Amino acid sequence: MANEYPAVNLSRVCKNYGQALIKQRVLIDVELRINRGEFVVLFGRSGSGKSTLLNLIGAMDRPTSGLIEIDGIQISNLKERARTEFRRASLGFIFQAYNLIPTLTAFENVKLPLTLNGIFDETPALKILNDLGLENKAGSSVEDLSGGEQQRVAIGRALVHSPSLILADEPTGNLDIETGHEIIRLIDGLVRRNGQTLIMATHSQEVIGYADRVLTIRDRKVVEL
Ligand SMILES: Nc1ncnc2c1ncn2[C@@H]1O[C@H](COP(=O)(O)OP(=O)(O)OP(=O)(O)O)[C@@H](O)[C@H]1O
Ligand SMILES: [Mg+2]
Repeated sequence: MANEYPAVNLSRVCKNYGQALIKQRVLIDVELRINRGEFVVLFGRSGSGKSTLLNLIGAMDRPTSGLIEIDGIQISNLKERARTEFRRASLGFIFQAYNLIPTLTAFENVKLPLTLNGIFDETPALKILNDLGLENKAGSSVEDLSGGEQQRVAIGRALVHSPSLILADEPTGNLDIETGHEIIRLIDGLVRRNGQTLIMATHSQEVIGYADRVLTIRDRKVVEL
């Protein structure tokens, strides 16, 4: 039963970039355990390795050494194809720069993960657009939307297929303070309603008020703040 496992488990994870003389050691012997349903905030100076850590947990990159398990599945060992399948089915990503497909409408962007997972019922996409207050923008090309609206579309895309783990990398970094706050409130509300696990890297202190746990990267390790 997958429920016996922590949502995220990292053991002795190291990540280097480059090799030999130009080798950079970004993470050293990282230990991290995150429980199901936790909202975890990740702080750390620019360049400390927040995006690197999220990329490892999100199976976008591999650790140099160490073990990474998501819901009890050891993703650090999976082959490329299995990693892609795993990402598609079990994870949701929210980025600073939204990363939407500009030629598609809001609705088409949001339903993409359903299509990729072979789900042809569009109800979840319509429902989440409603939850995000975007019902009037469903048919708009995302290029015509404001930054805050684009980020709401991106939240819809990250959540529409009900992934167990959501990774957000500075989701408010391109937004004004008020819009950023609204985005955090939306993410918090939706993720808690569904009991999903959320890890958010950010420089924004106000997120602390929403979090169950606050972590930071210090001396190339993850520590509680
Ligand atoms: N693909 C890569 N190849 C080589 N070096 C990289 C790569 N990605 C990140 N780095 C380096 O690893 C270090 C950590 O980068 P990372 O992007 O994880 O930091 P961050 O904490 O997310 O910073 P920020 O707050 O500015 O987003 C930096 O020194 C960066 O230059
Ligand atoms: Mg980063």
